[in-house]
Amino acid sequence: KDTGKGGYDHYMLKEINEQPTALGRSVSGRTDSAGSTVDLDGFPAGEFEGVDRVHLVAMGTSYHAAMYTEALLARRGVPARAFMSSEYASSPPPAEDGTLVIAISQSGETADTIAAVRAARAERTLVVTNVVGSSLTRECDDALLVRAGPEIGVAATKSFSSQVATLSLLSERIRRDVVGTPSPDAEAFLSALTRLPDQVRQVVESPAAEEIADAFTDSEAYFFIGRGPGHAVALEGALKFKEITYEHAEGFTAAELKHGPLALVTEDTPVFAVFNGGSDDTETLGNVKEIRARGGPVIAVASGDTPDLEGIADHVLSVPSTHPELVGVLANVQLQLVAYHAARRRGRSIDKPRNLAKSVTV
Ligand code: G6P
Repeated sequence: KDTGKGGYDHYMLKEINEQPTALGRSVSGRTDSAGSTVDLDGFPAGEFEGVDRVHLVAMGTSYHAAMYTEALLARRGVPARAFMSSEYASSPPPAEDGTLVIAISQSGETADTIAAVRAARAERTLVVTNVVGSSLTRECDDALLVRAGPEIGVAATKSFSSQVATLSLLSERIRRDVVGTPSPDAEAFLSALTRLPDQVRQVVESPAAEEIADAFTDSEAYFFIGRGPGHAVALEGALKFKEITYEHAEGFTAAELKHGPLALVTEDTPVFAVFNGGSDDTETLGNVKEIRARGGPVIAVASGDTPDLEGIADHVLSVPSTHPELVGVLANVQLQLVAYHAARRRGRSIDKPRNLAKSVTV
């Protein structure tokens, strides 16, 4: 009935399905399938020489993209920290030469993030945004566009994938300028980035997420765990789930469980475990065993590179194999779909959840 939804029942579902195209736009012309170049318009090689540390500031879903990027930069030998904009604004770190502040904001209008940029005592500020000409593009020294296209659903979906893709390229650019060499597996990483749009298409075409949503309809709470990039995805998975289903959902770093949250785990609390498909999977598997020992049902979100899930997890939401730093993008799409179908079953107002706004400008 609403032509703007292009035949989908909700903008959110339309935007989930637009991710292959949106991601393609974020990446295309900025790297190549050989994985040798990083060509970010306006940010030529050498642009970030002299950067000693990166502060990432953002709120909501964009904050989770900031956490993801913190992991990417750290793995590239660039000191980085993600902050909620509001906290950064109220206690800005001391002025130090060589600090680059990167604000991340889909709308470019989030008041807390504008406040963080104004409070920043940094040499340079840069916004990564989806909206040309937005307030943050004027507040910051530079802007890098994520090119996701307009996002209408209050719950951010395609903007997250495009932010992570754009920030992946930016992280590699910064690494090359700061350290002087490409990251050791740059070719594998960048060429994986060019394959990501097709892999996201495979995920959105799979019915698995809907089956999982249907399998857990009246649980007490829904937990999400992961480490590194998978931790950012766990928090984002929980945010999406609580925003649109109104159920209690929480994300944790996998190791944090035994320091408290494990007390909440029962047979009525499904736990979504995000695996990166790399060397840290062994530890996450250990955390999954701890959950199962307390009777908690576990849904692993993993690629074929994570071994031994048979007989350990109750369910596996699988994603195509890719570079371990990018599995999180695919896992996140599965979790978007789980949240969507869970909200739909509950008859929620998916595109405009109660009490929430797309852009918080106050
Ligand atoms: C609001 C929206 C979220 C969004 C956050 C940050 O809370 O409901 O979906 O992630 O603002 O918005 P921004 O436009 O700065 O990315």
